Amino acid sequence: MSKRVALVTGGTGGLGEAICRKLVDAGYHVVAGYNSGGNHEKAKAWQEKQREAGYEIDVAYGDVTSEESCAACIETVKQLTGRDVDVLVNNAGITRDGQFKKMSWEQWNEVLSANLDSMFHMTRLVINPMIDQGFGRVINISSVNAQKGQFGQTNYSAAKAGIHGFTKALAQEVAAKGVTVNTVSPGYVMTPMVAKIDDSVLEKIAKTIPVGRLGEPDEIGRIVTFLADDQSAYITGADFSINGGLHMF
Ligand code: CAA
Repeated sequence: MSKRVALVTGGTGGLGEAICRKLVDAGYHVVAGYNSGGNHEKAKAWQEKQREAGYEIDVAYGDVTSEESCAACIETVKQLTGRDVDVLVNNAGITRDGQFKKMSWEQWNEVLSANLDSMFHMTRLVINPMIDQGFGRVINISSVNAQKGQFGQTNYSAAKAGIHGFTKALAQEVAAKGVTVNTVSPGYVMTPMVAKIDDSVLEKIAKTIPVGRLGEPDEIGRIVTFLADDQSAYITGADFSINGGLHMF
């Protein structure tokens, strides 16, 4: 059998890169989905950087807010790999933080669209081939802020909480078909997304993390790879918190 194919949306981003690398280490044919505002050169440069570091990762353009663009992305993956997607990591996401009393419809809509509608667009395209082949792994990246809420993130917390509802419902529908669906909920991890937070605000948040530091992207990649494994067949509809103890429940 040729290598299993893993598609990681937002694959060229902070968490995405670590997830892609861990999946390569675990023997998958990995494709990093990217948007990068349509900057294909940037994605190619990222791919070259991975190659220089010893990681062979394909790249496929796809705007996760658009059904048509996702379909084109999946088509590219098929052309690159010659297989249907075995493992889908719905990782692409954005923030548009701000207090709700000042939040615009655009801030709300952009976050819901990129973080939640994306689940529908991408997963809808891969789920039937997964059912047909009797194997599939859908791994959705949510957030600690879905579980506990976060000042300034009504849009993001709502979208990320929606992901887990989606996960649990879909997990039930496909459980008997060899397809598992799980959520990973990272805390504050060293990525460009977290680096955007004002230093003084981030400092305050960091002080509330019992482990005493931010997370490392590799720590998220590790659990994603564990869930993708053929042997993780009995884990479905679950949510894995990796947050340094920031939220325990
Ligand atoms: N609880 C209560 N009050 C708070 C607060 C908190 N946690 N944080 C800030 N405030 C208060 C301040 O004390 C200040 O109050 P006063 O006006 O009375 O002085 C007020 O809120 C700040 O008002 P601003 O007008 O300056 O703030 P704003 O409306 O522009 O929004 C913010 C501020 C952008 C939301 C900022 O607080 C912030 O960046 N917070 C962090 C948000 C965050 O954690 N984002 C996570 C991004 S990373 C990610 O999302 C990845 C992941 O999954 C974890």
